[in-house]
Amino acid sequence: MTTVHAVVNSKNPDTTIIKQAAEIIKNGGLVAFPTETVYGLGANAQNPEAVAKIYKAKQRPADNPLIWHGNSLQDLQSVVEFSSLARKLANAFWPGPLTLVLPSKVSAYAKTIAVRVPSHSVSRAIIAESGCLIAAPSANSSGKPSPTKASHVAKDLDGAIDMIIDGGAANNGLESTVLDLHTGVARLLRPGGITLEMLQDIIGEVAIPQKNELSLGLDGDTPLSPGMKYRHYAPNAPVVLVEAGQAMLIANNYQKKGKTVGILETSKYKSLEIAAKELFDRLRQFDEQDVSVIIVETVPEEGIGMAIMNRLRKAALKI
Ligand code: TXA
Ligand code: MG
Repeated sequence: MTTVHAVVNSKNPDTTIIKQAAEIIKNGGLVAFPTETVYGLGANAQNPEAVAKIYKAKQRPADNPLIWHGNSLQDLQSVVEFSSLARKLANAFWPGPLTLVLPSKVSAYAKTIAVRVPSHSVSRAIIAESGCLIAAPSANSSGKPSPTKASHVAKDLDGAIDMIIDGGAANNGLESTVLDLHTGVARLLRPGGITLEMLQDIIGEVAIPQKNELSLGLDGDTPLSPGMKYRHYAPNAPVVLVEAGQAMLIANNYQKKGKTVGILETSKYKSLEIAAKELFDRLRQFDEQDVSVIIVETVPEEGIGMAIMNRLRKAALKI
């Protein structure tokens, strides 16, 4: 298949391109587009054949469900049940990088559905123009770091999807926070741009899986979220996590043994937000450079640091 490539200005997306993308989605095709978190690979959520194409293009395990994207809570309330807790969070953080797992009203699809309202102008325009809810995982090959630029999407999926819309680098650089509310108790499944502290400010109690569960995706034998049991965010070379300020020293030891080393000194970044925005791009660059090992400095697990460390631990998993 030939993939159509289009560039849009995120501040004022070209309506001709948006219409073309919406047409593809309405006809059961796949379009990759920017969101404020990472690039998504979108299809009509209620067209099972279109959704099956997403799994095929990404080589995604069939038991890992997708997030449904709408432009408002109203858009989504025909497919999921909003509790008062869910409404409170939606009012506080939508549009934005928070995904809520809620009881499904369309049980033919699933018992629960993860839903999110993106804030990015391009995603919003495509949802509005296509007139359907859009199922969209991150637009990478399964297991690879999520794409934060259109070039990352092209590297993984060119020729396997209908269209890639380039709207520049994704602002946040990490996927949305996933919060499970389907039992009535809030449970964090994936830390992200809406931080634990921000959630606690609105609803108080949030259950957090143990640190190693969050990284390994284990809750006893049951994965917390189907997506958590798979190795993720993984560049080709092994990732070694080291303390802040230690990267150069440890890299040196590897270099002495003749290894080519990718070095990510997170302690040199001005803020954790910038580190988050650049993380996946840097990991992908190390693949391009074909390094033999990647040394990354850990960050404090506060605010967005919790999401960064979650992704780093998964990238460092050896399974
Ligand atoms: O920021 C994001 O969330 C991006 C953009 C494109 O919106 N999307 C994204 O989708 O990261 P994906 O498929 O790469 O990650 C979705 C995560 C997976 O870990 C999946 O297992 C979990 O959400 N998930 C989806 N539906 C779920 C459900 N019903 N119950 C529990 N977890 C669910
Ligand atoms: Mg993903």
